[in-house]
Parts: sequence; C-alpha cells; structure tokens
Amino acid sequence: MSLLVELKNVTKVYHRSGICEFHALKGVDFNLHQGEMVAIIGTSGSGKSTLMNIIGFLDHCTTGHYLFSDTDVSQLEEKELARIRNKKIGFVFQSFFLLPRLNALQNVMLPLFYRGVAKEIAREKALSMLEKVGMAKFSLHKPNQLSGGQQQRVAIARALVGDPEVILADEPTGALDSKTGNEVMELLIGLNALQERTIVIVTHDKKVSDLCKRVVTLKDGCVVP
Ligand SMILES: Nc1ncnc2c1ncn2[C@@H]1O[C@H](COP(=O)(O)OP(=O)(O)O)[C@@H](O)[C@H]1O
Ligand SMILES: [Mg+2]
Repeated sequence: MSLLVELKNVTKVYHRSGICEFHALKGVDFNLHQGEMVAIIGTSGSGKSTLMNIIGFLDHCTTGHYLFSDTDVSQLEEKELARIRNKKIGFVFQSFFLLPRLNALQNVMLPLFYRGVAKEIAREKALSMLEKVGMAKFSLHKPNQLSGGQQQRVAIARALVGDPEVILADEPTGALDSKTGNEVMELLIGLNALQERTIVIVTHDKKVSDLCKRVVTLKDGCVVP
C-alpha cells in the first residue's frame, strides 16, 4: 500500500500571550498508508488535535518535514493547500460543524459546491452518500431536527462526498452516548473495510481505539514508542 502521509521530526510551538512558548509537538514521526485505519490516542492536551490539524493542512508545523503523497507540504502556497485539502481530505469533528440553515442534503453538497461541481451532479452524489450512511430519508431535515448520531452521520457523508484520500476524524464519538458512538464507529469501520477508505481517528476512548487496526499514543507532544 502506498504511503500517503509522512511526517518526520515534526514540532509545533504555540506562542501564548506573546512571550510564553508552548511545545505542543516535540519531534513526531508519523506515517499513514493507503487503506489504514489508525487511532491517535493520549490524554487531553497531549497534542492529538494539533497533530491532526497539521495532517489536514489546517495548521503548519513549526519545524520538521511533511510529505503528502510525496509532495512537500511546506512548499505549497495557501491556495494550493486549500485545493488539495478540499479534494483529498475529509474532516469529521466532535461537534459535527454542520451549517444550521442548510438541510442535510445541502450540507453534504457543500464540498462539491466549493469545487465547482454542477448542482445536479452534486445533488446526486450527496444523495447517494446520504444513502450509504443511512440518512437518505432525512435529507431535507435541518441539523436541529436530527439527533447527535444522525448529525454525525451527515457530517461523515459530507466528509466522504468528494471521494477524499483520507478521512480525519477528531473525537467523532466524543459528543455521543456510547450506543450512538458505537454505531458511528461501525459506520467508519465499514467504510474502511468495504471501501478501503483511509481513516485517522483521534480519541481518548479506549473502546474506540480498540476497534482500529493500529494505535499511536501521544504523551506530552511525543509519540510513545
Ligand atoms: N492555538 C493554541 N495556542 C496556544 N496553545 C495551544 C493552542 N492549541 C493548542 N494549544 C495547547 O497545546 C497543547 C495540545 O493541544 P491539543 O493538540 O489540542 O491537545 P489534545 O487534542 O490532545 O487535547 C495543549 O496544552 C493546548 O493547550
Ligand atoms: Mg483535541
């Protein structure tokens, strides 16, 4: 399987209130191959979201190297990063981040809209993706008319609709009760197993990470060997 993400000796330093430096990542190596399902675990504040944001081009590392499909990410301009992000990376967040005024179908169509896909094609793709996550019959519902688990399913459909190379899910079950969380995990596991989707899941829930094929543990900004 080909190497999708290659991080070498990545650090992230945050500047708090101007003077105080905080080292959130202290030399992290991380590889991700196509088709993998990896959990990143660690206690709160260990650097999980920081690492995820760097992998998803939402933030830059302070030092170190990042190759995405053999492309040196540090050499790309913001516009190009945004283009690759939109095309190749699907995000799922703890708090879903659906747009409240749009219905489920419109929310799922959004990434295609940003890509300039024609409306009718976007609509078809979004509908078929909602079907895959078991939400087709709720396509005209607004987020506030859906339960947490249903909203997360819609968010997963939105992450998948553009056929990304990797799904990055930051605490996708964090806002859900354990039964609903399990259902969302089953959905992600199915997408990995049946469709060979590459998935990275940040979690602090051992039950969630136990379901992943590989687990990377962060502690104080370092990968635990
Ligand atoms: N924008 C920021 N500015 C300053 N410090 C930050 C910022 N984002 C995160 N941090 C700090 O970096 C550390 C790691 O944060 P984070 O990656 O969110 O951890 P996790 O997701 O594992 O809980 C924490 O101590 C957090 O307070
Ligand atoms: Mg976090």
